[in-house]
Order: sequence, then C-alpha cells, then structure tokens
Amino acid sequence: MSDENKLSANEGIKTRSNYLRGTIAEGLQDLSTGGLSADDQQLLKFHGTYQQDDRDIRAARRKHKLEKAYSFMIRIRVPGGVSTARQWLETDRLCEQFGNGTFKLTTRQAYQLHGVIKTNLKRTIKEINDAAMDTIAACGDVNRNVMCVVNPEKSEIHAEVLKVSEDLSAHLTPATGAYHEIWLDGEKVESSEAVEEPIYGKTYLPRKFKITVAVPPSNDVDLYAHDLSFIAIAGEKGLEGFNVAVGGGMGMTHGDEQTFPRLADVIGFVPTDKVVDLAEKVVLVQRDFGDRVERKHARMKYTIDDRGVEWFVGELESRLGYKLGPVRDFKFTHNGDDFGWSENADGTWNYTMFIPGGRVQDTPGAEIRTGLRKVAEMLDGEFRLTPNQNVTLAVVKPAQKAAVEALITEYGLNDPEKLSGLRLNSISCVALPTCGLALAEAERYLPDLIGELEEVLEEAGLRNDAITIRMTGCPNGCARPYIAEIGFVGRGPDRYNLYLGAGFVGDRLSKLWRKDVKGSEAKELLAPVIRDYARNREDGERFGDFVIRAGYVKATKEGKDFHADIEDSPVAAKA
Ligand code: HEM
Ligand code: SF4
Repeated sequence: MSDENKLSANEGIKTRSNYLRGTIAEGLQDLSTGGLSADDQQLLKFHGTYQQDDRDIRAARRKHKLEKAYSFMIRIRVPGGVSTARQWLETDRLCEQFGNGTFKLTTRQAYQLHGVIKTNLKRTIKEINDAAMDTIAACGDVNRNVMCVVNPEKSEIHAEVLKVSEDLSAHLTPATGAYHEIWLDGEKVESSEAVEEPIYGKTYLPRKFKITVAVPPSNDVDLYAHDLSFIAIAGEKGLEGFNVAVGGGMGMTHGDEQTFPRLADVIGFVPTDKVVDLAEKVVLVQRDFGDRVERKHARMKYTIDDRGVEWFVGELESRLGYKLGPVRDFKFTHNGDDFGWSENADGTWNYTMFIPGGRVQDTPGAEIRTGLRKVAEMLDGEFRLTPNQNVTLAVVKPAQKAAVEALITEYGLNDPEKLSGLRLNSISCVALPTCGLALAEAERYLPDLIGELEEVLEEAGLRNDAITIRMTGCPNGCARPYIAEIGFVGRGPDRYNLYLGAGFVGDRLSKLWRKDVKGSEAKELLAPVIRDYARNREDGERFGDFVIRAGYVKATKEGKDFHADIEDSPVAAKA
C-alpha cells in the first residue's frame, strides 16, 4: 500500500474523479459516439449504470467497421426489495420507452433495465428518481442495495427489519453531489472530503460491498454470500437484535486458486440500535485494510481470510468501543422463496410468483409483463422483489385475492403448483447478450436445461422435491452458483463447470464435480446421481448432503478449501 504506483488503475480513476464526477457530464454531450470514455465507464458504475454492447451482433458490426452497438444497463436500488405498485408501473413504462421492452428482477432485489442508449440515459435516470427510486451506488466500490427478507414467517417483525435495512442503505449511500449534478441538474457543490464523503473519503472502498438482513428460518437473502449480514433474533417481545456475519463473497477467476468463494463468519450479537453504527465501522475497517493493489483480492472476504477473523473482530471492537455479545441461537431451513399465498399477521395476504430468470417479459403462453402490469394497476399494495429473482405481491387485501388469481390465470402467470421443485429453486444471471463478462449463456439457457432434468426427476419420483440449481455465464457468481446444490458456471461457449454439494440453506459451498460440460451432456451426467438420490437418500436428506455422503464430491469446509480435494474425489472431474 506504501507504493502509490502499484495501486490498481481504478484507485487512480477514483482519486482523480472529484468524487465520482469525472467527465461523465461532458461525455453525455458528445454525440460522435454511443459510448463514454474508459475512465468514465468505471465511474458510471457508482451511478448505477454499466456501458454494454449487444454481443449477439458484435461480430457483424466489426465486419462492417461499425462501432459496437453500445447501450446502458441501469440498475435501480430497491432497499429490502420493497417497491410500490406505482414504482413497478414506472419501471414497466421505462423499459418500454427507453429500454429493450423487458426488465430484470435481480438476485439482489433490484430492478434492471437493459438497452438504454446514451442519448436517453440522463432522462431515464431522472425519471427513475421522479418515481422516488434511485440508482446511485447500485454498482461500484461502495455499499450496494441492502437486501432484506421478503416474506418472513414472523411477519410481525418485517416492518422493523425493513426499517433497519432502509437505515443502513441511507447511512451508507455516497454523499457526493455528483449524482444530483449529473443526472438531476443539481447545483454544483464545492468539493471537500468532510462535505462530500465523510465515510468513504475520495477513494471510496477497495471493491464493492454488500449487506443483507435475514430473518430465520428463511435465508432467502443468502446472507453467507455477502460482506456484512445481520441475522434477526426475535424473542417473545419481538425483535431483540441481530447476530452479525462478515466476510462472504462469491466471485472467483477460473484457473486462479488465489481467488475463491467464501462464506461469511458469524461473529457476535448487537442490539438493534447499534446496527447502523456497527455497519459503518465494518465499512471503515475494510476501507482502511482492504487490498487496493490487486482488485481480484480486494473484497473484504480476503481481508478477513488473510488476517483472520479474530484480528477482524479485534479491529472492529476497538473502533466500536465495546465488545460484541455472544452469538445467539438461530436456524435456517431454506434459501429459496416460499411460493403462493401466505397470510400476514394483520390479515392481509402475500403471493409469491415464480419469474423465470427474473426476466419480466411477455412470451407465448406467459404474458408476465402484461399480466403483472394489470395486477399493479389494480393493487395498492407492494411489489416486493425477492432475492431469488421472483416477485411477492404483498399486503393484498382479502377482498382482492380473487381478482389477483383471475389475472394470474388469464395471463398464464406461473402457477407454482404446476412447476417442479427444481425449477422453483432455480436462478440464473443475465449473461449473454448484454453482460460483457459472460463466457457462456445462462438466463436464456437454464429453463431448457431444467426441462431436460425434469424428465429424469419425474421418472425418479422427485418432481416436487426442492433442489437448488443456479447457472452463471462466468465465475463472477452473480447468481450465487457456489451455494446451489447444482451449480453451472460458464467457461466458454456451451462449456460449464458443474459444481455439487452445497447446503440447501446456503450454508456450505459446493465442490467442482465435472469440468467443461456441454449443456447437452448435463442430463446424462446427472441422471445416475439423481436416481441414486431417489433410491438411497435417508429420511429428509437433501440432495447437496447426499452427494457428499455418497462420495460424488467431498464437502467444502471453507473458502480456501474450495479448490482442494477435486482430483482425489472418487468420481473426480473427467477433464
Ligand atoms: C466478482 C465479480 C463480479 C463482477 C465483475 C460482476 C459484474 C456484473 C456485470 C457486468 C453485470 C451486468 C450483467 C448485465 O446486466 O448484463 C452483473 C450483474 C449482476 N451481478 Fe454481478 N458481478 C460480480 C459478482 C457478483 C456477485 C458475487 C453477485 C451476488 C452475490 C452479483 C450480483 C449481480 C446481480 C444481482 C446482477 C444483476 C443481474 C442478475 O440478477 O443476474 N455480482 N454483474
Ligand atoms: S456471473 Fe458473469 S456472466 Fe453472469 S452477470 Fe455476472 S459477470 Fe455477467
């Protein structure tokens, strides 16, 4: 850290940016190109947008010596995933008016628009803000969208935990005036660290930072995959406080064993009124000790793994000025969503609906976008985005239930009763054609692959058994594939590494089972394992646990162990 020259390029971009301004405003005026400068592209992420290009037509445009077909992805923050029916309708309108006619419900409870061209970028972000939503810090080296359980069985404490999520989100939102100046025509403010970024300073964090709030028994937010998480502890008199977990993260790089997914460690307990201050202090430890030289090693998971959890807790407690309480008992039963109707403590109802790949679009036989627009026009309740790319229509009055059901039928919206346990527990990242990092298909391909596996499951009598399956187009892990019982991670066109053996509640990492699998080979490879599971599982034994007991893969005990024991496994990777 002492040698400034060695700092990663992004550190220089942040330092020079004058609190995230860069030359974005000027670049937006330049009509000679559909893109922005390389440095501004890095800064744009902090404003919630990524420059992308349509990869389906990249080669054809190159052949005709045309600039890539640039457009922008815009991610809208939705703290705790709670949006209103009006905000759903606005997102629906914006995707039609400025985007590609679809929108994505992401794995971190955000909305995403794709295909917005440069000349519409400012107007779209402005109109998102007009709808009382924002995009600042949706991406970039800062705290991102704060996730929160959507539909806890203990729904009386949902309002309290949601408030905690919103407070965390507000406290850790970058304070720079750049966002208002660039997108909302705000007044330019004088730059000084004390005014512009009292928490982050001018170089922000070494890397992205992600927070979740979970309420047992649901680990729908996948808390172990995030930098900082709070596990609500409810007693007889309601919410008592939170266990604190630190140091989770998914991303890794193929072929680089120094990079690995890591699950968070649960380090102690804090009462509710101390949560926001504790989060700030955790952020400060990472700000000061995270690696700013090697970006692949810059997440807090590596800071903690390198220095040890005890060191981290000591550093945190010295900044807090008190010791964390002992970890309280908790138990999770699943990390997926609870589908269908459930009644709230106040007599209203929630309905969770499966959205394949989180993509809100109309397809033959399932007019998801139109159907949900009709539902939003009718309901005055909430549209909660789940951490598994689905939507929960929340706070539905008993008198409105029948009308919602009629729309579900009319528009062919997915009835969870008709879908397999595997499909209901599936998620996939965007990948092609928009994600510049994708090595293989994910969102466009996983539904077909599941269809093939369903044939095997059906025969084996496992159609209704919940098994988690996730697919990503590259090892960055945006759909958290390393904590799925079956995980496909893209390596190249139609080539995936296949991981097995994660915990059903998201509390154990998987292990590589087969390398470089073609999509068309997956069914044949997995069929014997699925049949074996159907025949030989113990009472209540989960698929992820069975494949370890039966010797298909060894258990991964911690992140560092993720790449170990692969060759030794009795049915090891063939490649
Ligand atoms: C470590 C390196 C990572 C990089 C460089 C990265 C980069 C990206 C990019 C470029 C996209 C845009 C794709 C598109 O919309 O076309 C994206 C999407 C997304 N990423 Fe990541 N990502 C990383 C890891 C993660 C992880 C570990 C998570 C979650 C635990 C995550 C969560 C998301 C989410 C929620 C989306 C939105 C779309 C979706 O739900 O699939 N990312 N990421
Ligand atoms: S996992 Fe890779 S391919 Fe998928 S969205 Fe993330 S960065 Fe893109």
